Amino acid sequence: MSDMRKTILTGDRPTGPLHLGHYTGALANRVRLQHEYRTYILLADLQALTDNAERPEVVARAIDDVLLGNLSVGLDSEVVTFVLQSGVPELSELTQIYLNLVTLARLQRNPTVKDEMREKGFGAEVPTGFLAYPVSQAADITGFRADLVPVGQDQAPVIEQTREIVRRFNHLYGPTLVLPEALVPAVGARLPGTDGQAKMSASLGNTINLNDLPEMVRVKVMGMYTDPTRVRATDPGHVEGNPVFAYLDAFDANEARVRDLKERCQMGRVGDVAVKRHLLDVLEQFLAPIRRRRADYERRPDDVRGILASGTERGRAVVAETLEQVREAIGLPRLARRDSSLPPSLKLRRTCHSE
Ligand code: TRP
Repeated sequence: MSDMRKTILTGDRPTGPLHLGHYTGALANRVRLQHEYRTYILLADLQALTDNAERPEVVARAIDDVLLGNLSVGLDSEVVTFVLQSGVPELSELTQIYLNLVTLARLQRNPTVKDEMREKGFGAEVPTGFLAYPVSQAADITGFRADLVPVGQDQAPVIEQTREIVRRFNHLYGPTLVLPEALVPAVGARLPGTDGQAKMSASLGNTINLNDLPEMVRVKVMGMYTDPTRVRATDPGHVEGNPVFAYLDAFDANEARVRDLKERCQMGRVGDVAVKRHLLDVLEQFLAPIRRRRADYERRPDDVRGILASGTERGRAVVAETLEQVREAIGLPRLARRDSSLPPSLKLRRTCHSE
């Protein structure tokens, strides 16, 4: 029975724990789509190293965090395939081949790369691996022969870069690679930070993490930025730009109640503290089952490691097949196989026996 479903590939850079912004921007969508599409989730540790070469332990530690985060929100490891990027060396070979199809000027013009370089203050001292990460991401996407790539708006130019590489490859060497499409969430999916900044992000220190304990969530919610123009609860409040209401929009399923709170806030009939207490209830209802599932997985570390090991093995087989097609399309010589399927230790033993 062949699986006619389309293929999705998404990736996470493991650099720290997942937060509510990851949930609204990416995870919720993944959970929703997991049965409809053949889904691969790549833990892109090599990509994370492109701007964390001095901190490899941060990346190594975050792999578990990101995997547990994905599992705890309800992604089913029997349905989706989790792949560790550094466990698939074929991706690096694809990257090297694609690097010849992209100019330096094009990478420097990529709006995502430009923005991130500015944020990180790289200037001319940008690591080459970082500048070229869109090429390695093209290898991820094409290696898994993905039709659809769910990413945030800020990653759209990276997918465009992949599409250019695919077109150029297929033009030069014949139709080989699948042309992917970006799946960008509707505007409004981006969650502001607890400080009211446009983006929730670990580097801004304004996150509520999926594995924060209740006391931590309480402290963060009660300390949230609201509305600096409002001194007393009886002053008319502002809903626009108030992250407390943005979070209620995202996490309170009772829309009528949110509408009512907004109106009362605007009329000066409900205070910030009361609205925050309500948000706290809503968030606790959302987070409690996530924490429970995570604790359940944390009690079974061998199973969690097994999920990543077996997923990486299955993913690697897919990418190896793509690489085979790529090498063939280019016409790279195929040397006679010499026990290449055996791990080196076995090959060695065999040599000893035959002597
Ligand atoms: N660059 C992506 C991000 O920062 C992560 C990523 C790596 C990715 N490989 C991918 C996303 C492949 C989609 C497909 O979010």
